[in-house]
Amino acid sequence: MDTFDVMVIGGGPAGYVAAIRAAQLGFRTACVDEFTRNGKGSLGGTCLNVGCIPSKAMLDSSERFEMIQHDAAEHGIDVDGARVNLSKMLGRKAGVVDKLTGGVAYLFKKNKITSFHGLGQLVRQEGEGWVINAAGTEVLAKQVIVATGSSPRALPLAPFGGHIVENSGALEFSEVPARLGVIGAGVIGVELGSVWRRLGAQVTILEALPGFLMAADDAVSKEALKQFQKQGLEFHFSVNITDVQQDDAGVTVSYTEKDQTVTAQFDKLIVSIGRVPHTAGLGADAVGLALDERGFVKVDSHYRTNLAGIYAIGDVIGGAMLAHKAEEEGVALAEMLAGQAGHVNYDVIPWVIYTSPEIAWAGLTEKQAKEKGLTVKTGQFPFSANGRALGHGDPRGFVKVVADAQTDRLLGVHMIGPNVSELIGETVAIMEFGGSSEDLARTVHAHPTLSEVVKEAALAADKRALHM
Ligand code: FAD
Ligand code: NAI
Repeated sequence: MDTFDVMVIGGGPAGYVAAIRAAQLGFRTACVDEFTRNGKGSLGGTCLNVGCIPSKAMLDSSERFEMIQHDAAEHGIDVDGARVNLSKMLGRKAGVVDKLTGGVAYLFKKNKITSFHGLGQLVRQEGEGWVINAAGTEVLAKQVIVATGSSPRALPLAPFGGHIVENSGALEFSEVPARLGVIGAGVIGVELGSVWRRLGAQVTILEALPGFLMAADDAVSKEALKQFQKQGLEFHFSVNITDVQQDDAGVTVSYTEKDQTVTAQFDKLIVSIGRVPHTAGLGADAVGLALDERGFVKVDSHYRTNLAGIYAIGDVIGGAMLAHKAEEEGVALAEMLAGQAGHVNYDVIPWVIYTSPEIAWAGLTEKQAKEKGLTVKTGQFPFSANGRALGHGDPRGFVKVVADAQTDRLLGVHMIGPNVSELIGETVAIMEFGGSSEDLARTVHAHPTLSEVVKEAALAADKRALHM
């Protein structure tokens, strides 16, 4: 039986990064991943194959179409007859996915990581290690990392299939649906809803809660709703889905909203109501791996499960279901296995939503800071007073800084506006170092750049914004 120091089950951002770091640290490493694309193994998990990367490719393509149609004229560029070639757009997206998943395979080769394509199963303990069935071959591993990720949560009334799709199907419609229903106004709902609206669909989003993007700062979610509604996304809040039926023509959804019963007809329905941990087929029961009541693998602060030598990271252990959180856990765990001090700072994990305008935040919202009993001061600065944003022709949104009123420590930064996905990084770095809003305000920011809005928001927290 082949033996490895580290066997990783799952080749998504948590697993493939853990494997690379483990190999860098000198461990004889293998990874088994079952994801299949075009009949072959495709490393990179949900993120590279059917999540972060293809959704962002489609967001980019559809945003270009929207800009050509609506914004080019303002820049003095007249474009007639722009139209979508959907199969080409989907082909470009597939090409981006191919490049990146192939890149992971290349990195595995480069780092001498043995790669198995197929199901990975925990079989039994043997001596100091564990026997794993890796795609039909039994191997022995001293340490096992479970990184099996998550799957879309299904709505019992609307099982996936036919016109009812989860994220993978929602990235592959062969034609733009005239009427698109979305259940769940979360991150997938607003990102993929935006994609298809820009390409021509009439999009209706049905949300159970009275509001949306509840994890964002209130000021940001309020502004986001205003902007999204202006674009034509139709939201219904506090709805209760009571019936979903589909036939060849499409899907009929019945729901109650403010005590009214409504029936809506859609050509396609995306169900995006969150994700659940994926442990099917892993053999958790067979070896007695402990899961919590929601099915997440239970771990301690060092990613140790209840079984000595078996660890877990990424979406399957819960917390923020984000690729960069999963990757950082992969690095931290590999380093801990090597006796180093791996660490993830869960207080400053950035969130980014790639809509237009983009949304990004890190740290505490104003409300969370107050709930912690902190006295806070805030500063807000709009993109409409920024030269670069005006030059771009996109001055929507603002940056809001939340700082401790007594110590000035930067507690959180919240953004909605152009390219804020790229602006959040510097604020994460300042929070990582325990910096203050004064540190952010005194850092020289190039002119003219969008990043000056971040600086001005920090100045505004001390009531000394210069350009407002
Ligand atoms: P996964 O990526 O799910 O990888 C797990 C892998 O393990 C999969 O390949 C799976 O097939 C395999 N596997 C499972 N069980 C077994 C087994 N028993 N044997 C072998 N293989 C197995 N996050 C962001 O940070 N930014 C984004 O922009 C973003 N966009 C997203 C868009 C969409 C539409 C979706 C659905 C998600 C998005 N996410 C985003 C979330 C991100 O994809 C996940 O947080 C991330 O992929 C989690 O990584 P992971 O390695 O834990 O799990
Ligand atoms: P989500 O958790 O972001 O949102 C789900 C929404 O569905 C919530 O608003 C919830 O209240 C609502 N909901 C739940 N049950 C419902 C019901 N029965 N009827 C109506 N509404 C209901 O989950 P989503 O959008 O599925 O995304 C899953 C995860 O994937 C995200 O939480 C995130 O971790 C990750 N992701 C990250 C992205 C990014 O970082 N940009 C992009 C897309 C996904």
